[in-house]
Amino acid sequence: MPTKLLSQFFPWLLFLSLSLILLYSSLLPFHSPSPSSPSSTQSLKTIPSSPPKPKSPKNPCNFYKGRWVFDPTRKPIYDETCPFHRNAWNCLRNQRDNMGNINSWKWVPETCDLPRIDPSRFLGLMRNRNVGLVGDSLSENFLVSFLCVLRVADLGAKKWKKKGAWRGAYFPKFNVTVAYHRAVLLAKYQWQPKQPSDGNQDGLKGIYRVDVDTPADDWSNIANFYDVLVFNTGHWWGLDKFPKETPLVFYRAGQPILPPLEMLDGLKLVLQNMVSHIQKVFPCKTLKFWRLQSPRHFFGGEWNQNGSCTFNDPLEEPQLDLWFDPRNNGVNKEARTLNLLIQDALKGTEIHLLDLTHLSEFRVDAHPAVWLGKKDAVAVWGQDCLHWCLPGVPDTWVDILSELIRIGFKT
Ligand SMILES: *[C@@H]1O[C@H](CO)[C@@H](O)[C@H](O)[C@H]1NC(C)=O
Ligand SMILES: *[C@@H]1O[C@H](CO)[C@@H](O)[C@H](O)[C@H]1NC(C)=O
Repeated sequence: MPTKLLSQFFPWLLFLSLSLILLYSSLLPFHSPSPSSPSSTQSLKTIPSSPPKPKSPKNPCNFYKGRWVFDPTRKPIYDETCPFHRNAWNCLRNQRDNMGNINSWKWVPETCDLPRIDPSRFLGLMRNRNVGLVGDSLSENFLVSFLCVLRVADLGAKKWKKKGAWRGAYFPKFNVTVAYHRAVLLAKYQWQPKQPSDGNQDGLKGIYRVDVDTPADDWSNIANFYDVLVFNTGHWWGLDKFPKETPLVFYRAGQPILPPLEMLDGLKLVLQNMVSHIQKVFPCKTLKFWRLQSPRHFFGGEWNQNGSCTFNDPLEEPQLDLWFDPRNNGVNKEARTLNLLIQDALKGTEIHLLDLTHLSEFRVDAHPAVWLGKKDAVAVWGQDCLHWCLPGVPDTWVDILSELIRIGFKT
């Protein structure tokens, strides 16, 4: 939460906490604490949910801590006919197993309600404003969910394309554009075939030159168009995208950085530079978010080693560390590692963290897996345990983002 918001609502928070404590203590005699609650934060869960907690539209809430609750009556807002779908993520059309269940899980934060987006009210709030996502294909996955949800309130939504923007949609009833700019590393990068001066490094075919101080062209000119921006980078910072035959080589002020940086040190520098660029060039009134990593769920091997995610249920809380803690050195450890670097780079800035990692870590059941809508896709690309089925988990991301935008613009 922005510190400004916090200080503004501190009295409210105080009031809320006091009333919660009161409520809690008044109910205590009727409620035996669960023996399996080792930590004090967990014991918050045992606060009975009825009678309803006092609600305030300005109630700042940690949407990121909570649990998934199965609710068989819950249905997605859109279906496979949404025109903004990408084939590989259109799990209803691809007849992915278990789709009913995937969309019956509801994310329930520990200390407050997460309302489902009301597309019409949200677009009304956004009238004459634009939302942009900048980053890798996980941001595009997020975008498609956002567009399909919003379209429910404006069936006249049109595909939107402009130089520099990858894709998006315009909602004519509200004069709102929501779009995605593909910039997988955020910084500018380009392929350079092997030069004589590169010497005889084993197997080198060329390099990807990354200018750590220069944003990629795809988002270099958007500062005045958007009122809300959501940045991300992460999934390309790995040796599977840039192996040693075609490595990233980092440049600053037009010169190669010497000695050459390891990939994650390069990432740190790119993050620093992109964050300060955003702070400098984008207006203060623009609401800025940075989405943390979307976790992958490859079980039993990497994507190209038959790693699979054909699970029917979300993970249980105690399983998360086994899958994701870097100390366990598993296939899926990189999300938390990168998150630490990103959180570091954002300290002290006006850019709000959109920490969707933890809630998504549970959802091993919600990737396209083998249902990719194309024969042979699995044989060639392996299972997709990285992107998300739509409708699916990113719809919850949309609920959270839209709520934070609402709070951001109401204050
Ligand atoms: C639509 O929104 C843009 C800002 O994104 C604004 O400049 C323009 O005037 C609006 N158009 C109408 C018809 O209100
Ligand atoms: C993946 O599975 C196929 C078919 O079961 C097998 O032939 C292949 O060796 C496996 N690859 C790896 C890297 O385990």
